[in-house]
Amino acid sequence: MSWRATVLTLFPEVFPGVLDASLPGKARKEGLWMLETLDIRSFARDKHASVDDTPYGGGAGMVLRPDVMDDALAGAEASFGPHARRLYLSPRGRLFDQALAKELAGEPSVLFVCGRYEGLDQRVIDARGLEEVSIGDFVLAGGEIAAMAVIEACVRLIPGVLGNEATVDEESFSEGLLEYPHYTRPAEWKGVRVPEVLLSGNHEKIRGWRREQAEEITQKRRPDLYETYVLTKKETKGRVS
Ligand code: ADE
Repeated sequence: MSWRATVLTLFPEVFPGVLDASLPGKARKEGLWMLETLDIRSFARDKHASVDDTPYGGGAGMVLRPDVMDDALAGAEASFGPHARRLYLSPRGRLFDQALAKELAGEPSVLFVCGRYEGLDQRVIDARGLEEVSIGDFVLAGGEIAAMAVIEACVRLIPGVLGNEATVDEESFSEGLLEYPHYTRPAEWKGVRVPEVLLSGNHEKIRGWRREQAEEITQKRRPDLYETYVLTKKETKGRVS
């Protein structure tokens, strides 16, 4: 059975967009994953097809109406069942990371709700048990780019999508570290040589060098990740001995 992403959006025409490029696009054509988009506007109730209204209490912007969104969510549930994870992309959400990507990629289907304007009425978020997820501490104009980012991170974890499964194990975050630097031909470029160890053919040494580099770069750039990595390493050692 293939992984399925259902997206509720006011802009279904922007999908699949970048998700149809390269290996994720090829995998979709091969049926390794499916993408379904539902237009929120098609669930509007009046002849003007309005989906939003002004916020109670005043203030800037518009809020997506709970009745329209609830119908849209019921419509989505009709096609993917009531038990799938339902994500609402929002800057207020839990920060998306590789661990959540792994979790979601392991689900049979995931619903992505994309807000626009000031977002959804809180009552429909609560009533439908939407999980709020953010892709970073910045504000986008809507959830579509965030949904695409999350979908792409999940899709590349689906077995068969990348071709070489080892890639996923060695990349950034897989062990709580940022990735080591990569080099390819030519061995010397603009007077800079590739680190000699990579040309040595000694795989043990290369592994050691890559780990050192990954640790160094993580400590420098992401002390938060490095601290967790060191603690996890200590804990694992404690359990083994
Ligand atoms: N919608 C607007 N900003 C967002 C963000 N940072 N993450 C997820 N969804 C969003």
